[in-house]
Amino acid sequence: MKPTLYILGTGPGDPELLTIKAVNALKTCSVLVTPKGSPNGNSTALSIVKQAVDTSEKKIVELYFPMKKIHIGYEPDQEVKKAWMNAARTVLSLLEQGKNVAFPTLGDPAVYSTGFYLYENILEINPDTKIEFICGITAMSSCSAATAIPVCLGDEMLAVIPATFKDQRLRQTLNTFDTIVLMKVHKVLPHLCTLLSELNLLNKSVLVERAGMEDERVITDLTSLSDPPHYFSTIIVRKKR
Ligand SMILES: C[S@@+](CC[C@H](N)C(=O)[O-])C[C@H]1O[C@@H](n2cnc3c(N)ncnc32)[C@H](O)[C@@H]1O
Repeated sequence: MKPTLYILGTGPGDPELLTIKAVNALKTCSVLVTPKGSPNGNSTALSIVKQAVDTSEKKIVELYFPMKKIHIGYEPDQEVKKAWMNAARTVLSLLEQGKNVAFPTLGDPAVYSTGFYLYENILEINPDTKIEFICGITAMSSCSAATAIPVCLGDEMLAVIPATFKDQRLRQTLNTFDTIVLMKVHKVLPHLCTLLSELNLLNKSVLVERAGMEDERVITDLTSLSDPPHYFSTIIVRKKR
């Protein structure tokens, strides 16, 4: 069988939220290529996998992907593009050696994940590469479960956005949708609190930090935080409660 790359979601942190399909695919792979956001840091996706699958016999290649803003439709930053191409070449070389490769990524690969950039860059070099996606549980779903807040019911409209928007899109989205899931909130919380207060949405907002992880926190008063929350933090703004 042709060697395959599995781009798979690990879920947001709790290893029990890895799907059986993802675990089975991981077991068939002799190599794990895992993303990490800082050169000397650890891969969270890998740490989740390690709690569910025996990786002692597997080759592990940790690759650094710089965390920079990506504007879809525009050329990425050169450092980012270099990291994507390096990852693509690394994976292609492993596949050429006849190995099945897994690329585990936090949450779901379809939501703000490096998985699809890797996919596109590999296909740019070799369009015949065999790649399968295995979906994962999103951070949003885990935050919803942690707070018992649904994200959309009945005729409600849901928006999922990075909270780092600098233009009017953030305000417009907050005004337009019934539930707004704000990702990547950690660096912009003071600005968000001001905006949410101005739109009378502060008391409709809940922040979940490290959902599904051991030190999960649910914060209902966003203004009570004296320090920035962890990078793994998401806010659900639900208007109709
Ligand atoms: C690069 S995105 C990854 C999203 C992921 N692919 C998904 O499906 O949810 C990173 C953002 O996801 C959110 N996130 C990831 N893991 C989380 C967790 N365990 N708890 C809360 N938010 C989390 C945070 O908003 C974080 O800034």
